[in-house]
Amino acid sequence: MSKGVAVITGSAGLIGSESVSFFIEKGFDVVGIDNDMRAYFFGKEASTQWMRERLLEKHPKRYKHYDTDIRNFEELAKLFKNYKPGLIIHSAAQPSHDWAAKEPFTDFSVNANGTLNLLEATRQFTPDAIFIYCSTNKVYGDTPNRLPLVETAKRWEIDKKHQYYEGIDESMSIDNCLHSLFGASKAAADILVQEYGRYFGMKTVCLRGGCLTGPAHSGTRLHGFLSYLVRCAITGVTYHIYGYKGKQVRDNIHSFDFVNSIYHFSLDPKVGEVYNMGGSRHSNCSILEAIDMIEEISGKKVNYVYEEQNRIGDHIWYISSVKKFQKDYPAWEYTYDIKKMITEIYEVQAQLPLDDVMEK
Ligand SMILES: NC(=O)c1ccc[n+]([C@@H]2O[C@H](COP(=O)([O-])OP(=O)(O)OC[C@H]3O[C@@H](n4cnc5c(N)ncnc54)[C@H](O)[C@@H]3O)[C@@H](O)[C@H]2O)c1
Repeated sequence: MSKGVAVITGSAGLIGSESVSFFIEKGFDVVGIDNDMRAYFFGKEASTQWMRERLLEKHPKRYKHYDTDIRNFEELAKLFKNYKPGLIIHSAAQPSHDWAAKEPFTDFSVNANGTLNLLEATRQFTPDAIFIYCSTNKVYGDTPNRLPLVETAKRWEIDKKHQYYEGIDESMSIDNCLHSLFGASKAAADILVQEYGRYFGMKTVCLRGGCLTGPAHSGTRLHGFLSYLVRCAITGVTYHIYGYKGKQVRDNIHSFDFVNSIYHFSLDPKVGEVYNMGGSRHSNCSILEAIDMIEEISGKKVNYVYEEQNRIGDHIWYISSVKKFQKDYPAWEYTYDIKKMITEIYEVQAQLPLDDVMEK
C-alpha cells in the first residue's frame, strides 16, 4: 500500500535520484520535478537527463516526472494542489559558488525564490507535510577559514583540543563573513525554511551538507569534486587544484547515507530544525589525499595542475559535526567511509565507455 506522495525537486540530480529510489522502496509514490537546468549551468557533460530516463525506466508505475521549473509558482501550485504530498524533499539548486557570480539573478531566483515558492505551495496546499531542505555548509561562509589551522604534510588540520576538532557544529555564526553569491542565496533559503517552521509551525528542516557524493553524481569541473577527480583519473583529463596547496580538507558523505538521514528525520519530524550533515571525522580527506587514494584504487595516475589562486570564499578545512543529528536520531548510521565511496564511484565509472564517462 502506498505511504502517500513524496515530491522530490531536483529528482534527476545526485540527492534527488537517490531519494526517488529510496522512498519508492519505502512505499511512497514519487513526483519528481527537474528541468535539467544542470546542463544549462555546467554544459552537456553535466546533464541529468540520463538519470531522469533511468528513473522512469526503473519505476514506471511509482515515479512521475515533471519538467517544471521551481521558479514557476503557478505550476508548482497546480502540482501541490493535485498531489497534496506528505513529504517534500527539496534538492533542486544551482549548486556551484563559482557559477553563481556569472548570473546572480539566475542563482538567487533558483536557490532562494525557488525555495520560497516550494514553501508557500506547501503551506497553501499541504501544511502538515514534512519539508526537507538540502542546505549547505556554505551558509557558514568563510568563517571556518578563521580557525587556527595547522599545516601537515598532506592536509590542513586543527588542534585536537579545539572545540571543533570533531567537526563544526550548528553553533557557528552564519553572519559577518564572505559567502559567495551561492552561499548567500542558499543562506537566504535556509533562513526561509527555518522561518516557515518557526513562524507557521511547519515541519521543516535544513540539512547543511558537507560534500555529498556517490556514483549518481554528474560530476563536473565546477561541482562534484570526488566524482570529477575519479573521472579525470579514468580519462587522463587534467584536474585543476585551486590554492591552499591542495591540502584543503572536505568531509564527504555518500548520497545514500545523506538520504537515509532524511528518512530518519521523516520518521520523527521536528519544527524549524537545523542540522549539519556530512562525512564528519568518519569520512574526510584533503585533495592530495583523495588523489593518492584514487591512484591506489584505480592503478592510474591523476594528472593535475596547481593554480595558486584559491576559489573565492572556498573553505580551507571543513569537517561537519553530526553529533546533534546523532543525538536526535540515534538509529541513523554511516554505511560508507571515504575509501568505500571512491571505490564505488570508480567501479561504476570504469564500466562506462570513455566517451560516456565524459558525457555523464
Ligand atoms: N553535492 C554537494 O556536494 C552538495 C553539498 C552541500 C549541499 N548540496 C545541496 O544539495 C542539493 C542537491 O545537490 P546535488 O549535488 O544533488 O545537485 P545536482 O546538481 O546533482 O542536482 C540538482 C538538480 O536540480 C535540477 N534543477 C536545477 N535548477 C532547477 C530548477 N530551476 N527547476 C527544476 N530543477 C532544477 C538540476 O537539473 C539537477 O538535476 C542542492 O540543494 C545543493 O545545494 C550539495
